[in-house]
Amino acid sequence: MSQLNRRVTKAVFPVAGMGTRFLPATKSVPKEIMTLVDRPLIQYAIDEARAAGITEFIFVTSRGKNALEDYFDHAPQLEASLLESGKTDLLETLKSTNMESGAIAYIRQHKAMGLGHAVWCARRLIGDEPFAVILPDDVISAEKPCLKQMVEAYQETGGSMVAAMEVPREQTSSYGILDINGESGPLVSVRGMVEKPEVQDAPSNLAVIGRYILTPDVLETLNRQQSGAGGEIQLTDAIACEMTANRKVHALKFEGQRFDCGSKAGFLQATVSFALARAELQDEFAAYLREISPLIRAAE
Ligand code: UTP
Repeated sequence: MSQLNRRVTKAVFPVAGMGTRFLPATKSVPKEIMTLVDRPLIQYAIDEARAAGITEFIFVTSRGKNALEDYFDHAPQLEASLLESGKTDLLETLKSTNMESGAIAYIRQHKAMGLGHAVWCARRLIGDEPFAVILPDDVISAEKPCLKQMVEAYQETGGSMVAAMEVPREQTSSYGILDINGESGPLVSVRGMVEKPEVQDAPSNLAVIGRYILTPDVLETLNRQQSGAGGEIQLTDAIACEMTANRKVHALKFEGQRFDCGSKAGFLQATVSFALARAELQDEFAAYLREISPLIRAAE
């Protein structure tokens, strides 16, 4: 790959996980279709990718995820009916779900062997160019979308890049934690990564979250891991190999608020926050929250 090729036009959306934390719902509803207010998680991810200049969308799916494919299909009957009844605002809303023909590709991960394996499954569609990875269950509310912040920073740095945020020290065992060389504003030069360390072993309190810009070298590393022993193949391990091979890895301390919508508590927090941000719901919803605040105190 030319070192000057820093255009990022492809994004991989790994959505083949089983979503066990949301069972029984995820028995038939893909986690990514669950809604924050009235938009599925996947819509937030697609909007963020589009805002960052992504034009090719690669979904790594699995059995039972058909609802995701249907979601991005055009719905001519529904559109005709909305047009006929003059519901132009709803028609406009539907537009953001329509994908250009050929812009979206689906590939199957036949067995949930980990995030690294899911990304590896997309290797032929990615080819020999830098690409983004977005985990739709990490929803980020930000003035400038997180991936756009990363793409802009990547124009300067090249190499691979992860999104990072500071977490309380006692929570490091829930995240991939960065070992850092140095910082320059929001840009952090990374020298290592430790998966879910205990507090005493954590090299920092900077955690990796679900946004990445990766070079094709990472796919080559995943290739080698693929031929190795079974078990989960971690994306963070493959990125850590980049550093061992003396290739640049940066982290960007993005501006914005991240919600872990893969967990129930995070999903509920996001629901409240996104509902309060919606003009048409704000007053009614805020009034309700005020009304139930004594209940919260009573439950404590
Ligand atoms: P999670 O660790 O949240 O796993 O995956 P999960 O299966 O979605 O959810 P739980 O833990 O069972 O509740 C993080 C992201 O990686 C994808 C998931 O779809 C999610 O977007 N993933 C994970 C894959 O695509 N394949 C895998 O083998 C594992």
